[in-house]
Amino acid sequence: DGAEPLGFPIPANVHAEKVISVRHYTDRLFSFRITRPQSLRFRSGEFVMIGLPNAEKPIFRAYSVASPAWDDELEFFSIKVPDGPLTQHLQKVQPGDTVIMRQKPTGTLVLDALTPARRLFMISTGTGIAPFASLLRDPDTYEKFERVVLTHTCRDKAELVYGQELVAGLQTDPLIGELTHGRVTLYNSTTREDSPRMGRITALIGSGKFYADLGLEKLDPETDRVMICGSMHMLKDVKELVETMGFREGSLSQPASVVVERAFVG
Ligand code: A2P
Repeated sequence: DGAEPLGFPIPANVHAEKVISVRHYTDRLFSFRITRPQSLRFRSGEFVMIGLPNAEKPIFRAYSVASPAWDDELEFFSIKVPDGPLTQHLQKVQPGDTVIMRQKPTGTLVLDALTPARRLFMISTGTGIAPFASLLRDPDTYEKFERVVLTHTCRDKAELVYGQELVAGLQTDPLIGELTHGRVTLYNSTTREDSPRMGRITALIGSGKFYADLGLEKLDPETDRVMICGSMHMLKDVKELVETMGFREGSLSQPASVVVERAFVG
């Protein structure tokens, strides 16, 4: 709308949206919701480029949309980096502030990049849960898969709250509550604070504790699909692990059994 909230013009070809709400989970993690541009279409699991109108040439960073494609608001889950070029400012946004967004959503963590199967495993660490927050609220996920298992590993318990509330909220969601009933399992662990379950997901899967805890059949490319989102090292390690089980990376042009995406923003 051409607003110049900080004295800088909104760049051409970007959406200028209003912050609706902000929630701080820890001193490292927060989520925020913004208005959704009428014209924006995206697939659940995709990311957009987000910035602030606080410079002549604003800095943009990739953010997975955490809200589902049917939602009339956009939700994001972000890290706060004290000297992060974008997040040192973004962590201070308040309702009513302007956030800018480039127009083209994109990304590889989409249902269409996977061939059909019975179970879907979403493996995440930290803010890597964001694209799965979108997919878990998308009816298409349940059209395609019978059973969904979301793993979320964080440093400490407080960082797990976003995902715990997300999964608890599925049950009471008027739109998808019935569809998701009894079909979604959340598997949490922490690595730097004592909690009921500790360890990296790679170790928990590797040792078999993951299957034992949930009473599940082992991961198998015949019956299962995997989506992975986390830090670069996490992606590499989890991808290697599932490739040893026979999973192969898919894309929109060549759907297969596993897709990976970095949880961006440092
Ligand atoms: P750890 O505490 O052992 O590093 P971050 O917030 O730094 O992105 O980390 C989120 C979670 O991801 C932490 O629990 C962290 O464990 C875990 N993690 C980091 N690297 C890997 C990896 N290569 N494989 C699996 N999990 C990882």
